[in-house]
Amino acid sequence: MTPLSKIRPMRLRDLFWILQIENACFPSPWPKEEFITELTNNRFAKYFVAISDKRIIGFIGLWLIFEEAHVTTIAVLPNYQKMGIGKSLLSFGEKLAQASNCTKMILEVRESNKNAYQFYLNEGYKFNRIKKNYYTHNLEDGIEMIKELNHAAHSGS
Ligand SMILES: CC(C)(COP(=O)(O)OP(=O)(O)OC[C@H]1O[C@@H](n2cnc3c(N)ncnc32)[C@H](O)[C@@H]1OP(=O)(O)O)[C@@H](O)C(=O)NCCC(=O)NCCS
Repeated sequence: MTPLSKIRPMRLRDLFWILQIENACFPSPWPKEEFITELTNNRFAKYFVAISDKRIIGFIGLWLIFEEAHVTTIAVLPNYQKMGIGKSLLSFGEKLAQASNCTKMILEVRESNKNAYQFYLNEGYKFNRIKKNYYTHNLEDGIEMIKELNHAAHSGS
């Protein structure tokens, strides 16, 4: 049922499609330059795309900073939402974080983004704290969520 065929690293030439998804999914989309900086000039950043039928249908961004893995962004093309793609991308990010010896996942979600908040709860993330006026474009509060990573499960020991 899931139309996902693979997850692979994001490339600069993907950005036309990434921006289509970004514009369809976010009220304050990142400009192209932000993705370029992430892909070319941030040694902590790891970005991946989800492919279905040779088409990019979603992406995830992470910063792996020592023991913390920060989810900077995640989005799935609206027509492909609620099919398990977001879950696959997040789980891919968690496995990468575990393999990089991170002990926890951390992210912020807009207070009004109830769907994403529920999505993260379903994936085992827990409310940590409110970050007042976190989103600079409208001064909306952010909800910080955290998931502890289980290293025993990853190593199989
Ligand atoms: C949030 C988002 C990435 C989720 O991706 P998705 O592919 O639709 O999610 P999945 O189909 O993998 O769903 C995984 C779980 O979350 C739940 N979920 C997903 N979308 C949901 C929604 N709109 N409302 C409530 N629950 C939802 C699913 O029920 C599922 O739970 P289950 O496994 O217990 O059934 C996607 O909706 C999206 O791109 N939203 C717009 C961008 C965005 O808000 N990104 C997050 C910024 S913080």
